[in-house]
Amino acid sequence: MSDYDLIVRNARIVTEDRQTEGDIAVKDGRIAAIESDLGGKGSREIDAGGKFVLPGGVDSHVHVEQRSGFGIMCADDFYSGTVSAAFGGTTTIIPFAAQHRGMSLRKVVQDYHEAATPKAVIDYAFHLIVSDPTPQALGQELPALIKDGYTSFKIYMTYDALKLSDYQILDILALARREGALVMVHAENHDMIQWLAHHLVDQGHVAPKFHAIAHARIAEAEATNRAISLARLVDAPMLIVHMSEAEAIETLRQAQKKGLKIFGETCPQYIGLTADDLDKPGVEGAMWCCSPPPRDSAAQEAVWAALKDGTLHTFSSDHAPYQFNEKGKIPKGDKTTFKEMANGVPGLEIRLPLLFSEGVQKGRISLQQFVALTSTNHARLYGLYPRKGTIAVGSDADFVIWDANRDVTIRWQDLHDNVGYTPYEGRQIKGWPVTVVSRGRVIVEDGKLHAERGSGQFLPCASPDSSKPLGRSAPELQAMSRFGAKPLF
Ligand code: URP
Ligand code: ZN
Ligand code: ZN
Repeated sequence: MSDYDLIVRNARIVTEDRQTEGDIAVKDGRIAAIESDLGGKGSREIDAGGKFVLPGGVDSHVHVEQRSGFGIMCADDFYSGTVSAAFGGTTTIIPFAAQHRGMSLRKVVQDYHEAATPKAVIDYAFHLIVSDPTPQALGQELPALIKDGYTSFKIYMTYDALKLSDYQILDILALARREGALVMVHAENHDMIQWLAHHLVDQGHVAPKFHAIAHARIAEAEATNRAISLARLVDAPMLIVHMSEAEAIETLRQAQKKGLKIFGETCPQYIGLTADDLDKPGVEGAMWCCSPPPRDSAAQEAVWAALKDGTLHTFSSDHAPYQFNEKGKIPKGDKTTFKEMANGVPGLEIRLPLLFSEGVQKGRISLQQFVALTSTNHARLYGLYPRKGTIAVGSDADFVIWDANRDVTIRWQDLHDNVGYTPYEGRQIKGWPVTVVSRGRVIVEDGKLHAERGSGQFLPCASPDSSKPLGRSAPELQAMSRFGAKPLF
């Protein structure tokens, strides 16, 4: 008779704040004990052989089985997306349930559950994308959905089909503040991008590399500053997603220095790619096209500095998978202009290995920071901690045995997504997840998947601490009540 379902022995256990050596025991999907020399017997025992054991990755920016603002369907569904995540050491994803204009948010959420339930192999929560903040959505649907565990939503400052006005953003921020949700913002100045794109196309400059010109850095910097100003006006916390460049990051840093609760996220493409990658013959560069675009080595250095000093809080994939064909990246084949290409790059599976190899192995970030950036901070930020994001007694048994010495050459054929290419083809990586455990189930081992379709579980998110306001709204808002106006919150 066994004492535990699983014991992992001889592990170098790494969490966001420490590294210890010992054994991990699992029972009923949770961590039951962590001891330096654990007694008892497990139904299954694994010798980690002194390798690192890290919390399973939490990827809080993932597009799966989602239609883009242009109406293009992602190449990954909830099966291929979660399988790919698992092979890359990620045991929880937070994809988007995306509202397009005219849709009921409640129906959107129901549709995404119907898509995910039979297919997901790892656990998942949902963010909402809000593109149509009608009185019904603001007054009834969102407050009820927040109570049901959808406690974060993404909004866009660009893309014709998704963008909200500053007025609408203030409505969303005020609601999030009142109801306990965190607003995630895609910050790029729409009119700057449209104006540049119009003039480029007018002059016949339509190749993918012009995408990176049209999505100018100043468009990101301006929108970041504006988004933060809107958050300040109503004293609402906010996360700026997929940050790519120095000025926007500096604006974030200064906001944090003022004590504001503004968080920042970056992604593999901003440490691993540059705008030069888009400069390929014909429309091939579309494979490297995402928004904001990859920039240059100086921008990469700014991203690294912000990962190291804590200005950037999460490292997410922004996995936005589109095949390189007319159903995906290039709707008009080789006649597709940069304005028409599907935006987004795949990155779910290489997220942890790339950051480990470029960050930890090269001494740019510590192992503890790696864990925080890929797992713990995501779980905290979105109300999943301590169930997810750590290795602790009582937490879900989600962890990864990590071979820090494994050399891997990235090849799309070896990955598990459905995209057909990787922007990182041929890249040398040192360090790879070799065994992946999700709620005590060994789901990846010896390069094979051992998880059933539909075995992932939905995770309702609590209202996170990150969404609590500071209690410091703009002086004019405070003055309103002195002048007899009704308080806004
Ligand atoms: O280019 C990107 N990032 N596409 C995915 C959608 C988004 O804006 O995150
Ligand atoms: Zn975005
Ligand atoms: Zn995205």
